[in-house]
Amino acid sequence: MLLRDVEYGDVDAYVRMRCDPVMMAELGGPLPREGMEAKVRRDVLRVAADSDWTKMIVPDEAEPDVVAGTVTLWPHEADGERISEIGWMVLPEYQGQGLGKQGVRKVLELALDDGRWGVIHAFPATTNAPSNSICRTLGFRFLGKQDVPFAGRVLHTNHWAIDPRTDLI
Ligand SMILES: CC(C)(COP(=O)(O)OP(=O)(O)OC[C@H]1O[C@@H](n2cnc3c(N)ncnc32)[C@H](O)[C@@H]1OP(=O)(O)O)[C@@H](O)C(=O)NCCC(=O)NCCS
Repeated sequence: MLLRDVEYGDVDAYVRMRCDPVMMAELGGPLPREGMEAKVRRDVLRVAADSDWTKMIVPDEAEPDVVAGTVTLWPHEADGERISEIGWMVLPEYQGQGLGKQGVRKVLELALDDGRWGVIHAFPATTNAPSNSICRTLGFRFLGKQDVPFAGRVLHTNHWAIDPRTDLI
């Protein structure tokens, strides 16, 4: 497994991840198809500017175009405070194989080496068993339940945070 930066050619993977009712069940439902090219373009530009990280999970390095999912790390303004937030998705045919957890661990290790991200927050839905398990088993600390706005909806989430310098398992 390796991680590579998002590219313009990743639109199909974005559509499969973000416009599918099953993939988005814990994120308030599917997003409209027509916004996906613009979303990929935005993410590619933010990666080029080194403001956000969008890492595609590639199961086999011999086939870098075959994508299993994504891990994203970005600065997020909330109530006038700037925090670092991480999120992840793995396509159905690759779920349950440890790729999500490996991808998140690798991004936390990269963030530790990079040094700018500090404490990193995650907000999985309270009912999202695999995502909460990823947080718990990598060393995130549970800070409480929180309702968060996401793509025009409100999600009921668990607020987790990790300081990769001291907490990463
Ligand atoms: C959440 C998601 C990324 C997990 O990715 P994954 O690659 O399948 O997860 P992993 O195989 O790395 O497993 C991670 C942990 O979840 C557990 N797990 C996996 N599938 C599970 C399931 N269906 N129910 C409960 N636990 C599950 C694993 O046992 C593992 O825990 P462990 O380390 O304690 O054994 C993936 O299911 C997904 O993309 N779902 C849809 C989108 C989504 O919800 N994104 C996250 C938003 S916060």
